[in-house]
Parts: sequence; structure tokens; C-alpha cells
Amino acid sequence: MVTTVRINDMLMEALLYLITPCSRNARRLGFLQESVAIIARHRRCRNAWTPHLVRSKQTILEAMRRTVGQHRAVILGAGLDYDLPLTELADHFDEVLLVDLVHSPRIRLAAWRARNIRLVTHDVTECLAQLVKGQDNITQPSRFLDDPLVDLVVSLNIASQLPMLPARFLENRKGKTEAETEAVGRALVEAHFNYLARFRANVCLITDVEREILGPEGCLIKRISALCEAEVPWAGPTWLWDIAPLGEEDWSYALRNRVIGIPCLSGSERVE
Ligand SMILES: C[S@@+](CC[C@H](N)C(=O)[O-])C[C@H]1O[C@@H](n2cnc3c(N)ncnc32)[C@H](O)[C@@H]1O
Repeated sequence: MVTTVRINDMLMEALLYLITPCSRNARRLGFLQESVAIIARHRRCRNAWTPHLVRSKQTILEAMRRTVGQHRAVILGAGLDYDLPLTELADHFDEVLLVDLVHSPRIRLAAWRARNIRLVTHDVTECLAQLVKGQDNITQPSRFLDDPLVDLVVSLNIASQLPMLPARFLENRKGKTEAETEAVGRALVEAHFNYLARFRANVCLITDVEREILGPEGCLIKRISALCEAEVPWAGPTWLWDIAPLGEEDWSYALRNRVIGIPCLSGSERVE
């Protein structure tokens, strides 16, 4: 039974890999593969993920209620839309921009059906093109900062993902050391937080901050930063996300993320 599920997943992943459009750089870095893998993992772990996806949606709806203006909402990391109240956003705002390197077929269909949802294929770090060449100086992103129509920006479960694949690429393909890639990862996350802090619009941040490795009995084996040791400079409510229950990756451990969700950065306490 388990084998059949895995084979079905593999076939579905192969098909999605073939039909999902993706730029050459994003494909080289592994973003398409990762997006397809998340779709399959979501199918397998749907029940365990539901509380996290519901909290994410509630946080965005709270952000929407606290936003002055209804012109444009920009969702950074929209890719798969599992954690996004897309219908409510599209009903409330004149335009919703879904920003990601990869847009799944499901989100493409939603955008095709709605007149005011627009897909924007864009690298949120604005420096992956240099990283692919092995240049690891991290620049500050600026897209949308000068757009007067933007009323709401949501950084949606993306901050911890920004360094993940670039770090793997730099280590495996460019011969960087673990310490070097960790420093690049941290700089990417910090540049993202600085970017969010520069918007005049309301900004909502949802990100995992810590990963917990749990043993078969549920006891904590190890806790690691999900953000390459970068600190979230704002305080807010947190919750747990059972991202890989026992057996998903291995029967000897489970993975759990601690996630922070802040609907309005300007209204939250700053952590120094
Ligand atoms: C954990 S997923 C969250 C996706 C989505 N919110 C969901 O329903 O689960 C992280 C997303 O960030 C995107 N991403 C990672 N790095 C990116 C970058 N530099 N620019 C744009 N998108 C990026 C990935 O393609 C992926 O869709």
C-alpha cells in the first residue's frame, strides 16, 4: 500500500516536472524539483499540515482586515497557494500579485479563472543570477518598494526557503564551505527582513524560525535555526507545524517547525 502511494507520487511528480513552466536558473538551483516535491508531500501529510495552513490563512485575513487601502496585495512565496486565502484576497483587493519563481498548475488555473489575480515570476532575493555564477555578494532587493498602489505585502512561508537551495548549490556546485554558505544564507534572510521593513504598505510576515528533530517517542533530539541563525526582528504569536511526521522521511525521527505569524509588522514590537 505504502509502496503504491510512493509510486503514484513519483509518477505525479514526473508529470508535474514536465508540465510546470520554470526559468533555467530556477530549474538549475532545484526550485522546480522542490515545488513538485512539496505538492507530493502535502498530499501525504495533509492532516498534519492542516493546523499550520489554517493559522497561516487566519494571519493573512487578520492582516487584510488591518490594511488601509484595497488596491494591490503582493504575496511573496505564493507558489502553491495551500496557505493562502486567495478567494478572500481577490474579493477584497483590486489586484492580487502572486510572486514566486515557480507557479504550480493549480495556482495558474486560479489566476486564469480570476480577472484580478496576476502571476509574477520573480526572484525575491534579486541576487540568484549572481549566485548561480558563484558570486556570493548579497544585494538588497527593491522591487515593489516604489509602487504606490501596494497596500499589503505578505511574506508567506518563504524566508527560510530563500537560503536553502542557493546554499546547497554553492556547496555542491561551487565548492563553498558549509560556513561560507551559512553566512550567505544568513545574509539572504537578513536582506529579506530589511526589505520588508522598508515598505510603506502593511506587511505581514509568516515564517518558520526553528526546526525540531523528534525521536520516535516524541522527545526532542535537536533544535536548529530555520533561518541560518538570523533573528526575526519582530515579536509575534508562534505555532508548531508537523512538517514531517514519523515515517515521512524516516521511522527513526519526525520534523516539526516553529512558525511565527505577524499580521502587521509596524504594529508589532521590535526585537533588538
Ligand atoms: C515553503 S514554499 C511556500 C509556498 C506556498 N506559500 C504554499 O502554499 O505552501 C516556499 C515558496 O518560496 C518560493 N521561493 C523560494 N525562494 C524564492 C525566491 N528567491 N524568489 C521567489 N520565490 C522563492 C518557492 O518556489 C516556494 O514556492
